[in-house]
Order: sequence, then structure tokens, then C-alpha cells
Amino acid sequence: MKNTIVVGAQWGDEGKGKLVDVLAEQSDLVVRFNGGGNAGHTVMHDGETYKFHYMPSGMLHHKTCILGTGVVINPKDLLEEMESFTSSGHSPKLKISARAHVIFPHHQLIDAKEGGKIGTTGRGIGPTYSQKASRINLRMLDIIADDAEQRIKTALKDVKDMLVSEGILSEQDYNDYCSSVAVEYAKYGQHFKPFITDTEDLVRIASKSGQSVLFEGAQGTLLDLNYGTYPYVTSSSTLAAAAYVGGGAIPGVPIRILGITKAYTTRVGEGPFPTELHGEAATLLRETGHEYGATTGRPRRVGHLDLYALRYAIRISGIQELAMTKIDTLALVSGIKVCTAYKINDKVIDYFPADAPTLELVEPIYTEIDSISSLSREDWSKLKTGNKAALPESIRNYIKFIEDYVEIPISILSHGPERNETIVF
Ligand code: IMP
Repeated sequence: MKNTIVVGAQWGDEGKGKLVDVLAEQSDLVVRFNGGGNAGHTVMHDGETYKFHYMPSGMLHHKTCILGTGVVINPKDLLEEMESFTSSGHSPKLKISARAHVIFPHHQLIDAKEGGKIGTTGRGIGPTYSQKASRINLRMLDIIADDAEQRIKTALKDVKDMLVSEGILSEQDYNDYCSSVAVEYAKYGQHFKPFITDTEDLVRIASKSGQSVLFEGAQGTLLDLNYGTYPYVTSSSTLAAAAYVGGGAIPGVPIRILGITKAYTTRVGEGPFPTELHGEAATLLRETGHEYGATTGRPRRVGHLDLYALRYAIRISGIQELAMTKIDTLALVSGIKVCTAYKINDKVIDYFPADAPTLELVEPIYTEIDSISSLSREDWSKLKTGNKAALPESIRNYIKFIEDYVEIPISILSHGPERNETIVF
């Protein structure tokens, strides 16, 4: 299998974790390239449910997994995740980029104070990337250094004024924080030392020697810092292009770009959502699809499939094919519609609004879709032929409608959370 980039084509939570788990079987290396513990990948296998925030979903196949340079890491949370994975009988084969930035507790405190208006996950993601861009943050290579404690204390001096003046820590708390966090994080550094390396080298060597590398994106294209629904976005790039910058993918090496979309749309946190459902219809879809955030447990906002937004995401991320998840959920609800155009002030528009307040004004134009056939597990299992013609007519029509609109194929259909509930065409 050639190298593949997997990205979300909506606002995250599209089911990337499951798809990466499926694709990892035929990959040699799995690389995460953006985000941090804000991601929540749920993978079900053999009746067990695994929730990963950091570890690439390829872990379950015992593949070498990499946290690349574009990822931000809370070592405490990563350690807990690794320990829990180990105690369930697995041995993680993990490599961590020396250049990946470290999330400290003060980043989470800042996020808790300031992230409310965006509805962040509260994991300190924004403040970490922001201090990375300000060139005052520390990287994994700093916490494994012999003088790690000193480096941490020095870095904390740079943020002292801000922490104290904004009331995030008192002067006294700041002093206590400095000494305790320096010791604690230097200890994490010692723990992670064997895992930390120049991960781009591993990716380059694997790519050049014909191995197959799977790049796993976190969040979704519409949460991209540059092209998403700013300011209601995450703080990293979630596009396929980020696999090059943050994961070490090599320009020029042939690559497949797979976008993941649900059969409908969800979003967590604040921000425009033109096809959002409310009231009973929303409750029904949310409960049927178990739409609660894997990281925060928050109820997800739910809505009709927004093909107009999906096509925008496909174009800006360069997505070549789609995997569609949760078709089984859609089959259990009635009144299906898909949005095929946006109107503002009664005029159909031909662009995806960059301005969030303008996007709030959008009136979606819908096309009604026939109900989707609901199949039993047994019926689904008979459809493993990989042949779209074998699908029930209603599902075939839904897929065809989407493919015609977005002008790329749906090459994978997921009809349940388990690995084997997947049809590859
Ligand atoms: P942050 O990434 O925690 O800073 O949150 C910024 C926005 O991105 C918020 O609306 C979050 O709900 C959203 N977000 C972050 N990570 C995910 C994810 O993995 N799935 C869905 N939404 C996410």
C-alpha cells in the first residue's frame, strides 16, 4: 500500500480513529502530525473499547507509531495513556519527535480561563501553540536534557508576568509551581528519553525504502487554523498538507489523501454550523449516533450532511477519496436531507464564507433524500464483496448523490464501530 494521509473532512469526530485502525494493518509506520490531547480517537476491537488521545490508532496492530513534530504533548497524560495501554496487555511501539512541543499545566490554566468563548477542550492546546509561535515554549528535547529542570525554570520566567498579571497564578503560587513543575517534568523527560528521536528521519527512511507510512490527522479540515471557521477552530493545521510540515511526509513521494466524513454532520464547541438540527430531531440523531465527545464527554451538536462545506474541505485539503462513516446511524432516522448550496440574503453564493458572522447568516438549500435502508449486522456482513452494486438501492443512491456532488469517490463505507464493520470498494 502506498503512503496515505487520513484527515477529517468536517469538524472532527468523523471516525478517523477507526479508519486508521483499519488501514494500519497494511502500513509499516503510523504518524500523528498535529494537535494534542484535544483529539479523542475511539477504536473498538474484539469487544474492547480503546480511547486514544495521543497514541496513534495504529497501536492496536503493534505497528511503530510516531508522534511527529507538529504534535503538542502533555507528558503526564501521555504517560497515563501508555500505562493504561500496557496494563491491558499491549506493548506500545512509540517514537516521539524531539521537536514536539510540551504542554505544561499553566497552558491548561490559561485555556480554562480563555478557551470558553470558543468552547475548547481545555487541554491547553491553544496556549501551547501560541507560546510555540512566540518562541518561548519548550520541546521534548528540553525535558530530556541534563539541565531540564533549569530549562523549565528559565522558560517559566518568560511567562511569569503574564500568569501573575492575568490572575492565573498568584506570586506565591507561581514560585511553588515553578519548583514543582520543573522536578515533575524533568522526571517525565527521563521516562520518555528512550522514545524520543528525530522522527522525520524514521519517516524518510521508511518512505525511501518502500515501506508504507500512514499519516493520521487529528480534528477536521473545518477546524483548521488557517482555512477553518476562524476563530472557532483549533490551533494547528488539520489539512493534509500538515502531514508534510508536522509529520515528515516527503513532497514528491506518491501519496493517497483520504478524507473521512460522517453520513451526517457533527460539531463540538462553539461556532457556525449552517445545517445544525435542534429540538427532538437533534436529540434523536445524537442519541442514535451516541454523539458525545470522546475527550470531554460534551454532547455533540448534530445536523444534516453539509455537502457544500464538505466540498470546500475536499478542495482545500486536496482530498482524493472519501470514507463515509455512520451510515448505520443515518438509516435509523427519518427526514434525511443534504445541503447542496448556501444562500445569503436570498442570493445563492459561490464561495465558502471566511467570516464566521457571515457563515452564521447562511441559509442552507437542501435536497431531500429517500430513507436509507436499515440493515441487520448479518445483512451487512453479507455485503463484504466490495462491490457498490451489491448495496441496497437507497444506500447506493445516497453514495452516488454525494460522489456526483463532490466529484471524488467514496471508497470506504463504515457501518459500525468494529474493525470488521467496514466495506472497502
Ligand atoms: P482546542 O483544540 O481544544 O483548542 O478547541 C478548539 C475547537 O476545536 C473547539 O471547538 C473544540 O471543541 C474543537 N476540537 C478540538 N479537538 C477536537 C476533536 O478532536 N474533535 C472535534 N472537535 C475538536
